[in-house]
This record gives sequence, C-alpha cells and structure tokens, in this order.
Amino acid sequence: MSETTAFSSTVSAPNSVKASNGILIVTIDNAPVNATSADVRTGLERALSHAEAAADVTGVVITGAGKTFIGGADIKEFGKPAIEPTLPAVIEKIEALSKPVVAALNGVALGGGLELALACHHRVASAAAQVGLPEVKLGIVPGAGGTQRLPRLIGIPAALDLIASGRSAKAEEALSLGIIDEIAQSDLLETAVSAARKLAGKPLRRTGGLTVATADPAEIEKASAKILAKSRGQKAPAEVVRLVTSSTRPFAEGLADERATFLALRDSREAAALRHVFFAEREASKVEGLESVEVRPVSTIGICGLGLMGSGIAVAALGAGYTVIGLDQTPEAAEKGRERIIGLLERNLASGRLDQTGFEARKAKLSATASDADLAPCDLVIEAVFDDLAVKTELFRRLDKVVRPDAVLATNTSYLNPDDIAAATAYPGRVLGMHFFSPAHVMRLIEVVRCAKTAPDVLATGLAVARKLRKLPVVTGVTEGFIGNRIFSAYRREAEFLLEDGALPHEIDAALEDYGFPMGLFAVYDMAGLEIAWARRKRQAATRDPSIRYVEIADTLCEAGRFGQKAGRGWYAYPEGKKAIDPEVTAIIEAARAKKGITPRTFSKDEILQRLLNAMAAEGETLLAEGIAARPGDIDLVMINGYGFPAYKGGPMFASN
Ligand code: 3HC
Repeated sequence: MSETTAFSSTVSAPNSVKASNGILIVTIDNAPVNATSADVRTGLERALSHAEAAADVTGVVITGAGKTFIGGADIKEFGKPAIEPTLPAVIEKIEALSKPVVAALNGVALGGGLELALACHHRVASAAAQVGLPEVKLGIVPGAGGTQRLPRLIGIPAALDLIASGRSAKAEEALSLGIIDEIAQSDLLETAVSAARKLAGKPLRRTGGLTVATADPAEIEKASAKILAKSRGQKAPAEVVRLVTSSTRPFAEGLADERATFLALRDSREAAALRHVFFAEREASKVEGLESVEVRPVSTIGICGLGLMGSGIAVAALGAGYTVIGLDQTPEAAEKGRERIIGLLERNLASGRLDQTGFEARKAKLSATASDADLAPCDLVIEAVFDDLAVKTELFRRLDKVVRPDAVLATNTSYLNPDDIAAATAYPGRVLGMHFFSPAHVMRLIEVVRCAKTAPDVLATGLAVARKLRKLPVVTGVTEGFIGNRIFSAYRREAEFLLEDGALPHEIDAALEDYGFPMGLFAVYDMAGLEIAWARRKRQAATRDPSIRYVEIADTLCEAGRFGQKAGRGWYAYPEGKKAIDPEVTAIIEAARAKKGITPRTFSKDEILQRLLNAMAAEGETLLAEGIAARPGDIDLVMINGYGFPAYKGGPMFASN
C-alpha cells in the first residue's frame, strides 16, 4: 500500500499523520513552478476537506516540492474556460478551516502562491524564500485576495509599493514587513509542523478578519500619484492603487471588486501582450541546435576599449562576479577607463544599489592595461572599440596571438559584418557578436550574433555569459544592423516618408509617445546626436540605389549644423534647454516636399502610428523569412528591450496581429 495519499496527481500527503504529531503535510508537486493549475486546486480542496473531517488531523502544513513554493496561478490556463474550484474558493477554504493551516515557504511564493500563503494562519519561510505579487507585470491585478489581505497584514503604503511594482521581497524583508511570521532557523517542515502544533485548538488569526491599519492619507496620496505617473497608459497599476487604497471597506466587498477587476483585465489586450512577452522571454532562451551543447567555462573577461560602452560592459561583468581585464590603447587611456568604471560603481554605491563590500569586491576584480599580453588569462574577450572594420579586424588578429585558442572572442559591432571580423582570425569558430545597448550596465538586451562559422558551444557560451550578466540575450543572424537596427531603420525610413508626405516631427513624436514609447523618434535622434548616422549615409551615398525613395531632410539639417541637443538644435530647437518646435525645421521640410512636388496631406495620430507599426512588422516578416530572427517573439523582445517599444503593447509583431 502506498504511504501517501494522492489528493490529485499534483497534491499529496502522507497517509498517517502520526509521524508529524497530527499535522497533515500537504505537498504541491507540479513542476516546473508548482503553479496552481486546476489539478492543484482540486487536490488542495480535497486535502482541506480531508483535514477538516479527519479526527487524527489537528492542523495542516502546505509546502511545495522542489525549489519553488508556488509560482502563481497557471498562466497557461488564462483565456481558457474556467475550471472549478477557483483559486479564491480554495483560498477561502484555507482561511475558514477550523484547524490551523501553516504555509511552509520553501522557495518563491509569487502571485496566487503568495495569496494562498496570505490566507494561511501562519507563514514560515526558508531563508531562500522570496515573496511577491508580480501580477501587474502581466497586465493584471492579484485576483485571489492579494490586494485585500496584504494591506491587512502590512498596511496600505507597503502593500501599494509591493503590488504596484510587482517586485519580490526576500525572506528578511518579508519578515520585517510582517508578510511572513518567521524564518526557519533549522528544518523548514519541522518548524512549520511545530508552529501548527502550537496553534492547534487555539483561536486562529484569519487575515481577512484583520483591520487595515490607518495610514497617513498624504503618504498614500503621494505614493499613488507616483505609481500613476510611472504607469502612464497602463490599466493594471491604476487598478492596484484603487483596490489597495480602498481595502479599508468590508473584506467581502473588496474581494468581489478585486476578482471582477482581475477577470476583466485578464481578458484585455494589454494582459495578452504582457503574457506574450513573458513566454517570449522564456522561448528566446531555447536556441535550436544548442539543446545538449556544453558551455565553455568563463571566469575572466577581457574588454577592449574602455569608452562608455566598454565601461558599461565592465560594470555588468563585475556585477556578475567575473574578473575583468580592460584594454585600451595607451596606459593613460587604460587608467582613464579604469577610473570611468570605478566612477560608475561609485554611483551605484552612492545610490544604495551597491554596498561597500560589493564595491570593494568588484574593484578588486578589475584591472586595466595597454598591453595585449595581459589578456592571456581571458576566457572571453569582448571588444567595444570604434565601429570600424579595419580597427576591429586588426584588433582580432592581435587577440588571436595572445589568448588561448579556446577562448571566445566577441565583437560588439552594431553595423559591421562580424563574419568579416571572424575571417581575420585563425579560429573563426570562436567568434560571435555580442551587441550590447548603451548604457550597457543598465540596458537589458544583448543581441547575440550567430556568425556563419560560430561553433555551437561558443554561441551557448555567449548566451550563458549574457544570462549571468542578468541580461536578456536574443539570438540574431548576420545582417546589417542585426534584428534591432534593421527594424529601427525601416521605422525611421517610414517616419521620414511621413515627414515628406505631410506630418511634422512633433506630430509623429506625439503619436509615438501616446502609444507608449518613452520618447518620440525625433526627440531620440536629437538626444543621441545626428552626426554618426549622417556620416554613415554619406559613406553609403555612392552605392545607394537611386530608384529607391530617399529623404534628404536629415542631411539638410546636418549640413546646417543641426546635430541635435548637444548643438542646441536638431529636429527641434532648445531655447534654454527646453524642446520646442522650430519653424526653421518646418521650412526645411516644406522645401523638401516642394522639391519633390509632393502635396502634403494631414495625418491623424492613428494613421501615423499604423504606418510606423506596419513598417516595423513588414521588416520583421522579412527578417523571419531570411532566417535572421527565429521567432516573431524574438523581434518583439528586441524592440521592447532595446528601442523603447511599450511592453504592454507586446512588440511590433504581436501588435500587428
Ligand atoms: N504559470 C504557468 N507556467 C509558468 C508560470 C506560471 N505562473 N511561471 C513560470 N512558468 C513556466 C515558464 O513558462 C517556463 O516554462 P518552459 O520551461 O516551458 O519555458 C517554466 O515555468 C520555468 O520558468 P522560468 O524559466 O521563468 O523559471 P525560473 O526558475 O527562472 O523562475 C519563477 C521561476 C520565478 C516562478 C518565474 O517563472 C516567474 O516569475 N514566473 C511568473 C510568476 C508570476 O507572474 N506569477 C503570477 C501569476 S498570475 C497570478 O498568480 C494570478 C493570481 O493573482 C490569481
């Protein structure tokens, strides 16, 4: 006879509660993250009914198998017909049970997982546990009591902070906030069982029955305003504010409102977009041909070129625990680079993102040199020197001579052909592209370029390092500008056609900002400076196909010295540093239209947007057809994480469907 009772295929408990002194230890085992699928809910419901009825059971402990307590509701069930029992029903049953229920948080408790724990009568966590209500990141609000129970435990301001940000709190913080009651100092289950034993037969603390502590209305107002300002264009954070700040009303009323809001948001386009992004991120890590490839060990990273980009990469690498050897052309430049990196670390120290110990540890792992030979110990070298083919190939030839033959060489080029760079080396198989975005210590995206000859384990190594840097790597094939800049070029081209056809820069920017881009395209140009793109256009002028539509307006601006914000004028004027529409730019645009005999027409915001989105999606389709991008979701991730496309719109490929 089996020693355990299976309440469902994912929920079980030992048959006899003798060994645990009358406490039924219910384990949820639903790999990979113990999500509360229909089978889990059914199992829990049966386990609770059993516990209520069984005379030998005096209390219950609920825990998770593996390293997760519960990762939340099963997102894969969203959009499918509801299956009873619902999560709120199971959670209410926990709270109402006449016997104590203790949550033993063996790992992360997120979303519905934390909501379940909040309804338990006591919460014990292992030191590695983390808790959070990340629903806003999926465009929804917690739907199983989170917005009502959390404020009852920790007050409105702290609940607002956690739920509106969707961030996780580590066990220590969860304890100090009052989300959990204790951190197990020894065995988690033993501690939980002992807590349940102590509570047996005593009046239970039911979270739903607690009163929300009064808080300073001004503080709540300030926190709410901050959340609303930050989440412009998105519905879920505003609903979180509404539900949490009104949690002082009767509990049942708050719960009903929360559930209705959750269901409405769950079925919204915004939530579908964010779910798409969630799954696209997980998909992006699955790269064809790398399933059983072993990664090369990397502990020391060389970085060539310690300018802004190289320094940013160095900060990210030091943060991930790598030893970093920076290389620049002269000892002075190397020292300046080292100082720049230390300066960035100091900024993190000052802002509290880094503590003194972390700062010292990073500093100790950093060195800078002007001598190639010092790169000999590197397992990976990333070059971030001037984006010029001759400069990069010459550098790679030199690197070939100093690093081990199995060390990986990565180029951070944004426009050059990395196959040409690889061809200059003795072992092209060890070369790949790692295209970081500036500032590299902040931006999450890395386009990992699979070159014609990149060996599978070299690609796998690049991806593994990128993940260790806590970045989001997306694999791209070789093409001018890779995925991101190819789409960006198509988008920019269409924006310039729109200019000629009748729209003005501020109208295009307003359409983009209304859609959710943090900044319009022309404002971004001005911020970045127009001269680099101009230089590239001049280089390409001789080979440009004259039958292809070409808009000269940007060139005319550059010829007039309008290089953007640094020059005090670009697509806009900047009187006293403030962006303003410039009649001189309007005149340049009008002259360009007249020169081509174009009669301008007016465009609505929707028309502007549609043309830009269509251009991006069409270029995306081309990239898929060319095999440069593996999946539409990869393209969406690149545009969201590298180019400001609003995540809650799902990316250009998702938005076009
Ligand atoms: N539902 C369904 N599948 C999920 C899931 C969930 N809640 N969370 C993760 N998964 C899946 C992933 O898609 C992935 O599947 P794959 O192997 O087929 O690609 C697998 O689990 C492993 O996920 P990760 O690669 O992310 O694993 P990690 O170990 O790196 O991270 C985690 C684990 C921290 C739990 C992370 O997966 C995560 O943050 N998950 C989402 C948590 C979340 O948003 N929860 C709230 C859900 S909504 C909710 O609860 C509503 C409620 O209020 C009613």
